[in-house]
Amino acid sequence: MTPRTALVTGASRGVGRAAVDVLAHRGWRVLAGCRAPEDTGLQGRPGVEVARMDMTDRASVRAAVADAERLGGGRLDCLVNNAAYGVLGAVEDVDLDDARAMFEANVFGALAAMQDALPGMRARREGVIVNVSSIGGRITNPFVGAYHASKYALTSLSEALALEVSPFGVRVALIEPGMVDTDFSANVRPSGSLARGEGPYAAMAGELGAGFRAWRERFSSTADDVAVAIADAAEDPSTPFQVLVGDDAKELAAARARSDGDEFRAFTREYLQLPWE
Ligand SMILES: NC(=O)c1ccc[n+]([C@@H]2O[C@H](COP(=O)([O-])OP(=O)(O)OC[C@H]3O[C@@H](n4cnc5c(N)ncnc54)[C@H](OP(=O)(O)O)[C@@H]3O)[C@@H](O)[C@H]2O)c1
Repeated sequence: MTPRTALVTGASRGVGRAAVDVLAHRGWRVLAGCRAPEDTGLQGRPGVEVARMDMTDRASVRAAVADAERLGGGRLDCLVNNAAYGVLGAVEDVDLDDARAMFEANVFGALAAMQDALPGMRARREGVIVNVSSIGGRITNPFVGAYHASKYALTSLSEALALEVSPFGVRVALIEPGMVDTDFSANVRPSGSLARGEGPYAAMAGELGAGFRAWRERFSSTADDVAVAIADAAEDPSTPFQVLVGDDAKELAAARARSDGDEFRAFTREYLQLPWE
């Protein structure tokens, strides 16, 4: 049987890297989209090819999707939109350019990849888009509002897309991990007054660190846990539209479903051990 072909974005490390490994191990041909392919150590891996792909560079996204289609002999079976990063900043003064740049990568880059992959999938009446969102696409926390807004945006695009493309035989799955043990937190970019370690929110952001650390210690999933969920979603047509990964994601989603209002904000305060009212 001809192997299926997947394009994974943000494949240099973390969840994307693990997804490349799991898919290749399951017999997929994988094009690993990376900003700096030469640094990944992925070259020469069986079943894996590497493409330079920066989600903020429209031409590189288009070229990577075309490469993936070529790799698949004209068909791309699965696009995994995984690349993303976070910005840390208070809503009041998060730098607008930082927030825009993050949306460019997390939302518009993913949208561009979908727009490039869909015509082929629609024409063949087969294919799956797996978008890696976050529990932060259903709930939000202080100082990561801009990042979580990018995940809410991805959730919204994915839900609309699922309804639009089902008549063409194309599936959409949204992966919603809770805390994952990767370098993601280390790469979150402080912005605005928090980047300078000053301003009215500096002390609160510092206090929030303890709550996030406790959350991570209680719950972290591994990159492999998320990668398995991605590969299962790529392979199994009975996968539900939204796939929560991790006990924390399940607990938070259940709390959100129980209450959308003040009660949920009280729950969040307790969950994050916020010391302020
Ligand atoms: N870790 C968590 O706790 C967590 C929780 C929920 C959801 N998620 C989601 O899971 C996904 C993977 O995150 P992770 O934990 O694996 O984080 P990670 O280890 O920081 O990896 C992020 C990946 O995205 C790539 N990337 C960032 N900006 C890019 C751009 N403009 N163009 C191309 N690639 C870009 C990075 O490439 P470089 O190596 O070039 O920087 C890297 O490969 C993300 O969508 C994230 O939002 C993570």
